[in-house]
Amino acid sequence: MATIKAAILGFGTVGQGIFHVLNEKREELRDKLGLELEVAKILVRDPSKERVPGTAHLLTDSIDDVLSVKGIQVVFEAIVNEEPAFTYLKKAVENKCHVITANKVMFAKRGLELQELAKQNGVFVGYEATTAGGVPVIKTMKNILLVNEVSSIQGILNGTTNFILTKMRSEGLSFDDALREAQALGYAEADPYNDISGQDAFKKLMILSSLAFGEQPNWADVEVIGIDCITSNQVAEASEQGLRYRHVAEVEKYPDGTIYAKVAPMLVDKEHPLYPIDDVFNAVTMETNYIGTLTLIGPGAGMYPTASVMVEDYAEIIGKRAGFVVSI
Ligand code: NAP
Ligand code: HSE
Repeated sequence: MATIKAAILGFGTVGQGIFHVLNEKREELRDKLGLELEVAKILVRDPSKERVPGTAHLLTDSIDDVLSVKGIQVVFEAIVNEEPAFTYLKKAVENKCHVITANKVMFAKRGLELQELAKQNGVFVGYEATTAGGVPVIKTMKNILLVNEVSSIQGILNGTTNFILTKMRSEGLSFDDALREAQALGYAEADPYNDISGQDAFKKLMILSSLAFGEQPNWADVEVIGIDCITSNQVAEASEQGLRYRHVAEVEKYPDGTIYAKVAPMLVDKEHPLYPIDDVFNAVTMETNYIGTLTLIGPGAGMYPTASVMVEDYAEIIGKRAGFVVSI
């Protein structure tokens, strides 16, 4: 049986999640794909740091070392920020590797460019994990767009902020304590300011805009307000009035072609569809012409939901290359 050689770039919460899921599902994936999988290299910033037992020999800090592995075909990427991630993935694609990324900061800005480069090189880009964690919004929207037009998207796109707002309301935690808990659970970004300032949700919204509309609004024109302005008192007062804070991202294409987008906290009442979406959950609602309104709800962050959708991307891409549709 042939073996697919893969590398993982970044070995924190998500990278380690990918490693565990690939190990746990190795036999099933082999049976379904007819291909063995071997993680041949893991790229990190500091290879001397102790991580998962039994992986020290795979660690490197050099992308050239990764791409020099004979027969390498798949690169999973879970590092942070635009660079060096984009440069690494560009090299991987030019080396004819399929790439699967969780990095929304890189993908919001360079995703279209990376996909074009992948097309030229005959390889695929999986990016389900960039947006809404374990919620399959990218693959669902890709399918919907085969027949429908999407006119607007609205939802909660950041798990950390929804977790913080939930804990402040339901357990009376302070903002800082709730954030610390989100960090301990692996939900928050390496720099959590990206979550609480709304920048993380904004990047995901731009990825959805690219997919739904083929373009993004001018970033400077998008109002982005985080949850750092919301106090415990405000959360408690809202709750007494039967209201809940939600951090809502929305993008809409108007009939004249202009795209409007905004990320901001919103007070919602019991009748609002986002009212019951608590904890680390995300919810994404799309308005479409044939289906009408469609909402997806699920865990928006965390090691296993994120790793799962990346391994699903792997199975889909490798299955496609092998000429069949994979059903796990
Ligand atoms: P993390 O725990 O902080 O891990 C980041 C990893 O990237 C670390 O192993 C780090 O190496 C490595 N890294 C950082 N900068 C690097 C550089 N310049 N060169 C090489 N390696 C570098 O972060 P995470 O939570 O796993 O998130 C990883 C990516 O997935 C981010 O883009 C994030 O936005 C995205 N994401 C996260 C989640 C989630 O729930 N956590 C969900 C969806 C998407 P060292 O260990 O040596 O420092
Ligand atoms: N920090 C992000 C969140 C991770 O909390 O939603 C998932 O993209």
